[in-house]
Amino acid sequence: MSYKILEKKQIAPQVHLMKVLAPDVAKASKAGQFIILRIDETSERIPLTIADFDAEQGYVTIIFQEMGKTTKQLAKMKDEDELQDFAGPLGTPADVRDLGTVILVGGGVGIAPVYPQVKAYREAGNKVISVIGARNKDLLILEDEMRDASDELHVATDDGSKGHHGFVTDVVKQILDSSEDVARIVVIGPPILMKVAAGMTQPYGVETIVSLNPIMIDGTGMCGGCRVSVGGETKFACVDGPEFDAHKVDFNLLMSRLALYRSEESECLQNHEC
Ligand code: NAD
Ligand code: FES
Repeated sequence: MSYKILEKKQIAPQVHLMKVLAPDVAKASKAGQFIILRIDETSERIPLTIADFDAEQGYVTIIFQEMGKTTKQLAKMKDEDELQDFAGPLGTPADVRDLGTVILVGGGVGIAPVYPQVKAYREAGNKVISVIGARNKDLLILEDEMRDASDELHVATDDGSKGHHGFVTDVVKQILDSSEDVARIVVIGPPILMKVAAGMTQPYGVETIVSLNPIMIDGTGMCGGCRVSVGGETKFACVDGPEFDAHKVDFNLLMSRLALYRSEESECLQNHEC
């Protein structure tokens, strides 16, 4: 079986959006879940969080950044091309309930997986305050979509080219310091952002959820590649997560495991033949 690419476009430097025809995956998808795709029989499997899905039209949207050999190859694909595998939805859906006011934070490419959660939290009756950030305004993705889906949108850029001059965590702190009564914060983005956010929100005692992105292979709990430490216990992000209580995650272990194959990854990128 193969999966047709209905639409492929570049939405920021080195960031691409792809709508893939996968009716069964689209029908079963829920916010917070991910897919694992393979370009062809010889390709590696890569996990990507679902950025949107349309059960009626039968497609799933993914957004990815060119990082290594496979994502660079994926970036070259065009409308009507086909992917060999598109397995999902995988992982436990986000625990979306009516809690009152929630803050949804997306950093860089992490804005993509936050988007379906913004819609789901709003549909569940919450007041949704979204905070999105990127290194500069050109790297800011889904700004209009996030504005439409949220009750309030705050923007931050590291270089000050749009919105608050600084990190998304500065903006979240400002909101927590205001009178707003926040029930939950969800943060998705680079591990360093999730680590810093967890440390920042802890003194406020606000429940904070992160979506972890360790190395994954099978995505079904069989290989142990995605193991993370949460509250001193080993968890498999692909089946026990990807969402966990940020205040219990061992981010240093996550970051050191993510760096394990860095030299092989760059060698592979240079050789283009692994
Ligand atoms: P980036 O490095 O450009 O950072 C994006 C934003 O995160 C920054 O603009 C800033 O607001 C915040 N940030 C970064 N460092 C921070 C710090 N030290 N303190 C506070 N805030 C900080 O992000 P990028 O290059 O778009 O992200 C790529 C990374 O995101 C990759 O590692 C990718 O694997 C990860 N990612 C994770 C998920 C997930 O599901 N967890 C999804 C998509 C991408
Ligand atoms: Fe293999 Fe999670 S990816 S156990």
